[in-house]
Amino acid sequence: MTNRWAEWLRRNGTTRFDMARKAGWDAFVNAAPREPLERLDRRQIAALDEEELEDYNEARIVWNANLPTVQTPQLLAAYAVFEQVLASGRRDGDRQRGSVVVSADAGRGKSTTAQQFGRDLHRRICRREGALTAEGHQRWPVAFIPLSAGMTLKGLNQKILEFYGHPAAARSSTSSLGSFAVDCVLSCQTRLIVLDELHFIDFRHRHGIEVSNHLKWLANEMPVTFMYVGINLAERGFFDDGLAGEQAIYAQTSRRATRCTLSAFSLDSDASHAMWIKTLRALEGGIVLAEARPGMLTDHAREIFRRTQGNIGSLTNLIDGACLLAITKGAETIDADILAAVVMDNAATRSAAR
Ligand SMILES: Nc1ncnc2c1ncn2[C@@H]1O[C@H](COP(=O)(O)OP(=O)(O)O)[C@@H](O)[C@H]1O
Ligand SMILES: [Mg+2]
Repeated sequence: MTNRWAEWLRRNGTTRFDMARKAGWDAFVNAAPREPLERLDRRQIAALDEEELEDYNEARIVWNANLPTVQTPQLLAAYAVFEQVLASGRRDGDRQRGSVVVSADAGRGKSTTAQQFGRDLHRRICRREGALTAEGHQRWPVAFIPLSAGMTLKGLNQKILEFYGHPAAARSSTSSLGSFAVDCVLSCQTRLIVLDELHFIDFRHRHGIEVSNHLKWLANEMPVTFMYVGINLAERGFFDDGLAGEQAIYAQTSRRATRCTLSAFSLDSDASHAMWIKTLRALEGGIVLAEARPGMLTDHAREIFRRTQGNIGSLTNLIDGACLLAITKGAETIDADILAAVVMDNAATRSAAR
């Protein structure tokens, strides 16, 4: 038997976008926000039959695990850097664009920030300039390419071609993969290429150096702004130009990179404390529980900070776990007991114990 919660789930379930492919990126870019999920009170929940309750709870779990992205100060500051770097890409006749490097610890919202920005830019350009280029190619302003472990030169080119759905992606032995990639980017008039999970490249290893040199070659061949995203890239030797080649263009590419980080929240000053509270309040307002109330998170601001060290990824994990427990244990709100019962990720637990 179907019910409206099952139907809500069918329309709003955990859509997993395969962002490494054009179709998945397109779905992400053009997805409508989730339909709001109705908050039932205890009495209304008690009146649900077994299947309805099962589906309503599942719908709430999906909803609470996907709270809207908060315009945190970190995200807004990163946006400002991105805009600035892209602005310099509008200079006439200047073929080589600047690039931006987003480097920070895990769970700081690097991928989220890059994806949201990419999505907004992609939509904006398609709206203004139309779906097709003057030559009749599909316009594709933003490419999002997540790398994977053990990335080689060939693997990188294949990833780019896979994103564009280029048939040569699967062809194994070809030295022209790189120029195919350049063709895709030029014909689709791509403006921004986001390379995520760059920490998978070991820039001190032979393969990594090869990839790094190739990135610089690509940046030189394509009138595109690159966004390099990864965990602590400086420490991984991403900027060590000496390794990457003698040629002047290489050094120049590196000099054109603008660095950007996403810091954790802190409670060091009144201003930063206020930002933490504001972020908790924004998330709190979206949570669907029968007895959700304003202050449900902000009343525990210090404890939540201790548990997460102000890391947005640990925070959304904590909220996720707390909402789930609030539903399964019947508390229907988040309180100190529920927070204490949530099992945290490893890094956050170790730091909280210090
Ligand atoms: N501005 C934000 N608002 C709400 N949630 C966020 C925000 N930034 C990150 N998150 C959440 O934090 C988690 C980690 O973010 P992610 O972008 O994957 O971090 P990173 O790429 O730095 O490891 C994700 O679940 C994401 O939904
Ligand atoms: Mg990431």
